[in-house]
Amino acid sequence: MVGKSVVTLDGLSTNQILDLLHKAEYIDSHRKEIAHTCDGRVLATLFYEPSTRTRLSFETAMLRLGGKVIGFAGAQLASVTKGESIADTLKTVSNYVDVVAIRHPKEGAALVASRAASVPVINAGDGGHMHPTQTLADLATLQSRFGRVNNLTVGLCGDLTFGRTVHSLINALVRYEGIKFIFISPEELKIPDYVTDMLREKGIPFQEVIRLEDVMPELDLLYMTRVQKERFFNEEDYVRLKDFYVLTPEKMELAKPDMLVLHPLPRVNEISVEIDDDPRAAYFKQAQFAVYVRMALILTLLGLA
Ligand code: CP
Repeated sequence: MVGKSVVTLDGLSTNQILDLLHKAEYIDSHRKEIAHTCDGRVLATLFYEPSTRTRLSFETAMLRLGGKVIGFAGAQLASVTKGESIADTLKTVSNYVDVVAIRHPKEGAALVASRAASVPVINAGDGGHMHPTQTLADLATLQSRFGRVNNLTVGLCGDLTFGRTVHSLINALVRYEGIKFIFISPEELKIPDYVTDMLREKGIPFQEVIRLEDVMPELDLLYMTRVQKERFFNEEDYVRLKDFYVLTPEKMELAKPDMLVLHPLPRVNEISVEIDDDPRAAYFKQAQFAVYVRMALILTLLGLA
């Protein structure tokens, strides 16, 4: 993986993913040992779309490894406003840094960036397409809680049309044995056909339902998502659908005692704050794992671990 870009997890073998999860575990318990591994290295965070967790955790990851960070948070401060292409930006920034994390509202932008750059590019979310480092954080949380990533019934709930974290997670989980997907969404926010076609081709079981309550008792993982306001074409549809699902303590009573609740965050209204104290809720832990997996990925791409 040294020197490579990560646009999706497709280019990584299952062993390479497992290795990243093991490195993340090591990092968590060896902060001092890794504190100077990136001395003299620089990360650029090029965020053309809003972010709290991904940008700050990438920056924290590099700083905790002893490296430095440059970048911008918001396209309005970058030369894209003057008409500069992503390719030209990446060709330029490659002269300044050792690794780039990029977020962009357009699907495929990270791939374009990776082709133009002469340093590794990490996709930090491209439109409704993929968010591979969020998926690594999701897998790390599953590994930590269940001790495995296989043999799980996985419920994905909410905006399954536009939610890139959902598409990214499905794309990764299909490589593990014994995974069954239950897609829980209103008709308007269904999982795209290309995903269900891929699952049929691979012979992976899935079910599509509208009511969360009907499937709660079956789930090992409930992955909640917010309705992606920024990808809607009109406000009226967003307002009608935004509170379609709200996970409440009453609904949690239907779940297995060890069911895991994940959410890539930000949360809007889809998980009641009362759930935060439920031991099955792991979304803030998931955000913590995201730092360790990003540290592991930076070290690996730079050939330092
Ligand atoms: N999970 C995630 O991508 O969060 P941000 O949009 O805050 O980066």
